[in-house]
Amino acid sequence: MEVYKEARLLRKSLTKHRNTGHSVGLVPTMGCLHKGHLQLIKRCHKQNEAAVCSVFVNPTQFNNPSDLENYPQNIEEDLNLLELTGCDIVFYPDVKEMYPQPPVVKIDFGNLGNILEGKFRPGHFSGVGLIVSKLFNIVAPDRAYFGEKDLQQLAIIRRLVADMNYDIEIIGIPTVRKQNGMALSSRNKRLTKDEKTQASVIYKALKAGEAIVKNKGSARDVCNVVGDILKEAPLVNPEYIVCVNPDTFEILETDNITENTAICTAVKIGDVRLIDNLIVRS
Ligand code: PAF
Repeated sequence: MEVYKEARLLRKSLTKHRNTGHSVGLVPTMGCLHKGHLQLIKRCHKQNEAAVCSVFVNPTQFNNPSDLENYPQNIEEDLNLLELTGCDIVFYPDVKEMYPQPPVVKIDFGNLGNILEGKFRPGHFSGVGLIVSKLFNIVAPDRAYFGEKDLQQLAIIRRLVADMNYDIEIIGIPTVRKQNGMALSSRNKRLTKDEKTQASVIYKALKAGEAIVKNKGSARDVCNVVGDILKEAPLVNPEYIVCVNPDTFEILETDNITENTAICTAVKIGDVRLIDNLIVRS
């Protein structure tokens, strides 16, 4: 496995791969990899001759400095896991490499970037758009892989690709869960044992919401049911519960849900913020 800290050297290697007819896949990550990320790497490895993973904790997408400071990192372990999973190339730049000077460009996703996650984390999607654009420009992949757990981010990236004419296929990969239903996330490491047990209520609530969607209930009923079940866990404090179109992220407020729906929620457990969703295709 090749590991590069400099974009210049990564580009050189990728040119060699391309000259031998290799397709290039990219999995952007912020490290502290878990089985969810490894699913993305596995798919990337299967579909491309050169599977690239970037590991970079991107400061421009953090609106809360303590969240950035506490973001877990473990590069040695990440490199081991990446090698075992079939990653060919790792891009592990430092902040100076990605931002040699403070960026002045701001990517504004309009309403899509201001609702839900964007409302609770102002500027977050602008930072995500910026770093993903930079990675797309450096790697110029044929395909890029993102988890469906960050569903609003996936919608944002699809818009970025469409609006900026990137010739990149965006592939969403389903959320990986623990046996108790909890979605894998690097932030789970910051939860106590008790908090982890209580966090399993999120999936239980989403499944109850799914049953209402399947019975063509209203978006309001779905949100009420999800909210009632979340209340069973006193440590879990919901920030939002909404039904959205999973592809465009348009908020659904219909009385009879007949279309594809994603039930999305964000909760706080102590000072840890978790997001999750369940996609129901009609
Ligand atoms: O989903 C993430 O881990 C990050 O937002 C991403 C896409 C790697 C950009 O920093």
